[in-house]
Amino acid sequence: TVSSLSADAVELGQYRHYMQKEIFEQPQALGNTLEMIAGGNTISPQVFGAHAGDVLGATRRVLIIACGTSFHAGLVARYWLESIAGIPCAVEIASEYRYRVSVADPETLVVVISQSGETADTLAALKHAKQLGMDKTLAICNVPESAIVRETALRFITRAGPEIGVASTKAFTTQLAALALLTLALAKINDRLTADDENTYLTALRHLPVAVTKVLELEPEIEQWAQRFASKQHALFLGRGRHWPIAMEGALKLKEISYIHAESYAAGELKHGPLALVDRDMPVIAVAPADELLEKLKSNLQEVRARGGELYVFADAGSEIPESDGVHILHMPEHYGMLSPVLHVIPLQLLSYHAALVKGTDVDKPRNLAKSVTVE
Ligand code: G6P
Repeated sequence: TVSSLSADAVELGQYRHYMQKEIFEQPQALGNTLEMIAGGNTISPQVFGAHAGDVLGATRRVLIIACGTSFHAGLVARYWLESIAGIPCAVEIASEYRYRVSVADPETLVVVISQSGETADTLAALKHAKQLGMDKTLAICNVPESAIVRETALRFITRAGPEIGVASTKAFTTQLAALALLTLALAKINDRLTADDENTYLTALRHLPVAVTKVLELEPEIEQWAQRFASKQHALFLGRGRHWPIAMEGALKLKEISYIHAESYAAGELKHGPLALVDRDMPVIAVAPADELLEKLKSNLQEVRARGGELYVFADAGSEIPESDGVHILHMPEHYGMLSPVLHVIPLQLLSYHAALVKGTDVDKPRNLAKSVTVE
């Protein structure tokens, strides 16, 4: 079974580290996770369980609970669920939710996201929600027989395969794929999805493995950026809208494995504090696809540049940000609309991986961290 596989049982093959292997396995992991829509099939609530149609049909709100990288997947989903499915969504860190006095609502679908399915706080938060009378529960998990999966009414098993590296990579992108399916299923049930829209989203989802493969080809350029990064003490990650959680995930990755202090901000918050930190020694990484917030982001970036901050911008086709002194641009191969967070996290995974390599840290087992946090 997946859960009993240890590092010894999974071959590294051509790769130096599990993290690198897992980053490069993402096309396959996404293809496997999205297999049910592969052959022209439409999206059906059944992928979440036999009775999912009834449960999703009665869902008025979504509450997502998770920790770490899985929490960031939930934050992306919030943007999708509200804008595409029209369903109000809250996202909570499990260790906060379980001890917070909160208002329970039986019409809320509680979604717990966990790679391992064993994270103590996430499991306890799920039990807490159930005790409060919320019995519409869904697990998005990578391990089918895990404790969390056994506790929920509905489940979606991501098919990332065993993830050994402590820093989560392929689990994250497959969680996003699962959350995109959930969004589309809810949108359809709520009559918010035309047949044309459904087709467009499904085509984009089916194309993800190819799109991710193209992004992975940027590795040599990202490696060069990482060389310059590795000597820095601090880094600031900026994004807006559905890419703000991607900036958060980029900062988390960098902290976890390269031990460089990294912070993430919604770019519109720059003026409310972090701008004071910007100088020539503070690299600023921006997630900047050509979306509806790009113009706003560009003026945020000018503010950084005006203070001497060096910019590393992950743009995409259509972003039109010129390269100049102190402004480095990397163009993602495709613009990917709503699903763009799935692609934009990948160069950030590679950036932290290569920064860690330069620094010589233990990439797969960073100091003080565990793959699965089964104690509080
Ligand atoms: C640990 C891992 C992270 C992971 C988090 C949540 O902190 O190091 O990579 O995101 O736990 O784990 P889960 O298995 O619940 O997704």
